[in-house]
Amino acid sequence: MSAVRMDGKMVSAKVRGSILDEVNRLKKRGVRPGLAVIIVGEDPASQIYVRNKERACEECGFYSEKYALPEETTQEQLIGLIEELNHNPHIDGILCQMPVPAHISEQAVIDAIDPTKDVDAFHPVNVGKIMIGDFDFLPCTPAGVMELLDEYGVDPKGKKCVVIGRSNIVGKPMAMLLLHRHGTVTICHSRTENLKEVCAQADILVAAVGRADFVTADMVKEGAAVIDVGMNRRENGKVTGDVCYDEVNEKAGYLTPVPGGVGPMTITMLMKNTLKAAKLHAGIED
Ligand code: GUN
Repeated sequence: MSAVRMDGKMVSAKVRGSILDEVNRLKKRGVRPGLAVIIVGEDPASQIYVRNKERACEECGFYSEKYALPEETTQEQLIGLIEELNHNPHIDGILCQMPVPAHISEQAVIDAIDPTKDVDAFHPVNVGKIMIGDFDFLPCTPAGVMELLDEYGVDPKGKKCVVIGRSNIVGKPMAMLLLHRHGTVTICHSRTENLKEVCAQADILVAAVGRADFVTADMVKEGAAVIDVGMNRRENGKVTGDVCYDEVNEKAGYLTPVPGGVGPMTITMLMKNTLKAAKLHAGIED
């Protein structure tokens, strides 16, 4: 029997609809969420992500500004723009698409963003809040995964959760959100011994590796929920995740497709954070 397909496109559309409803209510009070998206250089994948973020802003009724800066932009210039946006009252959220060119420090860029406008939740203040469990902004990709699990009734409480990957953007905050929801969490990475055996014990397996076909059926427990965060490009140009979809589909209980799984959820969570930022800035409680 094949796994239940966790449809991120469908769940995203639902959440974006409820965001739009709330934005329409806020507009009557003179509040319109605003997002500034900055992209430096010509990275083709980043161009696509940024376009999708602009589209999502339109769908949710947000105000948005896009800053496409040339590859040779200096760190000083980029931080200068961020400081302007920090003080711009029309802008509630600032997102600088990563990666930035090698001559710019990613951390310096993140540190320059006002933590109340840090809708990626990358700033050390927000990372610390996530660790404590008292946060305004959720990290977008992990929050999208949690929303999908909730939608399909997969509760991490008391369950073995294995996250493959320890990045600051996905692996570490993912582990933290599962832990907050009472999962028993293991983080695996390139130095993990007996990786297959560890993964095969997971009731919830989250793959954030960045390598096509990394998760094979022998790494998956019968009936497990398998969440594929990977976004890889094959030689033929096709986008694919980290999971061998067809074989894992025969063994897992739940599985996210790529594309159409976690990807749309990530952008939707960015919209949710921007809405939250607008409410914070307007002094509106949830
Ligand atoms: N590059 C890849 N994923 C992300 C993300 O979630 N936010 C930003 N700012 N850059 C990214």
